[in-house]
Amino acid sequence: MRVGILTGGGDCSSLNAAIQGVTKTLIETAKAEVIGIQDGFLGLIQRRVRPLVASDCIGLIQSGGTILGTCNRSSPLNYKGQDVSDSVLEFYRELDLDCIVALGGDGTMSLCHALSQKGMNFVGIPKTIDNDLMHTDRSFGFDTAVGIVAEAMDRLHTTARSHGRVMIVETMGRYAGWIALYGGVAGGADMILLPEFPYELDEVIRVLNERAQTHHYSMLVVAEGAAPKDGQLVVAQNIADSPDPIRLGGIGHFLQKQIEPHIPMEVRTTVLGHVQRGGQPSAFDRIFASNLGCYAARLVIQKEYGRMVSVLSNSLTSVALADVANRTRTVTKDDMTLLSAIYSGVSFGVRDISKLLYEPEAAHPRLR
Ligand code: F6P
Repeated sequence: MRVGILTGGGDCSSLNAAIQGVTKTLIETAKAEVIGIQDGFLGLIQRRVRPLVASDCIGLIQSGGTILGTCNRSSPLNYKGQDVSDSVLEFYRELDLDCIVALGGDGTMSLCHALSQKGMNFVGIPKTIDNDLMHTDRSFGFDTAVGIVAEAMDRLHTTARSHGRVMIVETMGRYAGWIALYGGVAGGADMILLPEFPYELDEVIRVLNERAQTHHYSMLVVAEGAAPKDGQLVVAQNIADSPDPIRLGGIGHFLQKQIEPHIPMEVRTTVLGHVQRGGQPSAFDRIFASNLGCYAARLVIQKEYGRMVSVLSNSLTSVALADVANRTRTVTKDDMTLLSAIYSGVSFGVRDISKLLYEPEAAHPRLR
């Protein structure tokens, strides 16, 4: 058996743990040959691969990044304006692969699904700090990102308290608010603004003014995909050849300008950015990514292709790539962390949040 492995999309912590989970299981259990494809789909396009052997896995579980390299702008369906998927299929056949294990987010899973239609076999593993893949309760990389947000918040609390400021912390997460919600709760945020609930500026200002009467600083977390009600997403860049060309970013500073004239405190903004994806993985992510990798290898051995490993109700299972492709899982309105934050008084910048919880399509059109 010959199995390719690639890491696609933005990197995150514990990719290497997943790579070692896949590689070691395939070698130990099926004596398979494992071929590392470099820089995600770009490596398939440019024909760059190298064998992976057991000794490549030494020290991988605790290391950040990906030893295979990755790329979030190399779709075989649109490479320099051309569809090069036929040449990718040819290379796959030349390599004599039974299957490719692809570690990635929704862009990667969508590409795997599209290339499956051409006759290539894929098994996907859910990787993304954004935690926004459909039909899995969690993706690896998310736990580490949440820990990084919480740690940053711990540090920002003390400086906010010393100066009596409102501190805005902007997180990643694209169109889903998972990182902002979980990182915000873990870091003791007073207000969390999510893409799922377009914020009402007058309510944000009202809450901060009310807090100013009893508390001399406030911590506000805003997801990069959050936007004011009836307002626009703040876009940082447009990358034409990326499967998802829009790069969000800048809502933190935009919000600072909106609120500063109306409150009695100074406001400062910290954009956490790519720090959330870097460095050593949490212990949870190391174990989780290894487990997903092992399960993916077992799917390959059983020839269950066209599937993505998934975790549902704390059990590993798999779902069809077709059901994951081109979709985004946003914060669900029955999420226990969301509900406990609401009940315990965290503001979401919306006057009547309980009403929104029962309105199915309250969010930005992109989320529908
Ligand atoms: O999908 C992961 C992610 O980190 C998003 O949270 C973020 O919006 C995007 O990737 C950033 O992409 P890039 O690495 O191209 O700046």
